[in-house]
Amino acid sequence: MIILKNLNKHYKSIQALKNVHLHINRGELFAYLGPNGAGKTTTIRIMTGLTKLSSGTVLLNRFDIEQDQVAAKKESGLVPQSINLDQELTVAENLDIHGMLYQMPVKARRSKTDELLDYMDITDRKKTLVKHLSGGLKRRVMIARALMHSPKILFLDEPTVGLDANIRRRIWAIVKKIQQDGTTIFLTTHYIEEAEFLAQRVAFLNNGEIVALDTPKNLMQKMGTWAIDRLEESNMETTYFQTREAAKKFMADQKQSFTLRHVNLEDAFLTLTGKKVK
Ligand SMILES: Nc1ncnc2c1ncn2[C@@H]1O[C@H](COP(=O)(O)OP(=O)(O)O)[C@@H](O)[C@H]1O
Ligand SMILES: [Mg+2]
Repeated sequence: MIILKNLNKHYKSIQALKNVHLHINRGELFAYLGPNGAGKTTTIRIMTGLTKLSSGTVLLNRFDIEQDQVAAKKESGLVPQSINLDQELTVAENLDIHGMLYQMPVKARRSKTDELLDYMDITDRKKTLVKHLSGGLKRRVMIARALMHSPKILFLDEPTVGLDANIRRRIWAIVKKIQQDGTTIFLTTHYIEEAEFLAQRVAFLNNGEIVALDTPKNLMQKMGTWAIDRLEESNMETTYFQTREAAKKFMADQKQSFTLRHVNLEDAFLTLTGKKVK
């Protein structure tokens, strides 16, 4: 369970987070969606104790990140946005060092390393130096490392950024599996389809504020079911319809070309924020 109450963060003149309220259930896969600079990483850095909050409260499974810092830190694992593995060490050594930082005894470290390498399907890379791995494999090692101390909550900050579409899907499958095995997952992304595919609930973050929070299905349904895109004086205009009949009626009156499609999460985001998540 993750609870954020009235969370604010200022960096000098910038207010990066404005009164963020969230209540994420145990075992939920929650997506925090927003464009670059929205405040996603700042939120994760606060929850993992890397940045101090300006005001408000954060609880990780009842542990207050300020009052019970040590206990709160043990509750979660973090996969940061940029790759910060030790490139000159092997995959197993990277995991082992993380286990040491969490005071795991040597036996537990060895067995957990083997278990996680198997879980991530990278056992054959156990003794490979990280610098020789592809971007997708490095991501898998990052996730394995974050799970070494068996955290109940996993924070993933843009876990698939810069990866090919098929490798991205591989990571999605791993993330789903981790959730199914009982871990609460908080994932930030600026890929709409990632949130739509993975998350049970999505929050739209824009300029440090949550502008919407619901299931992907409900967010989309608010827009209607059908969308018609058409070019209007070199601008793409989109109109939404609850029924196919209403969309058909509209189409009959159109003189220029158009496309009819199903509403997606991007429509909801664009309408609420007026900007693209890029
Ligand atoms: N260490 C920092 N010092 C000053 N401003 C920062 C710092 N970190 C982030 N910011 C600013 O806070 C805002 C939110 O950034 P960030 O949380 O990284 O967004 P996101 O992860 O959604 O791209 C941005 O305007 C960014 O420039
Ligand atoms: Mg970020």
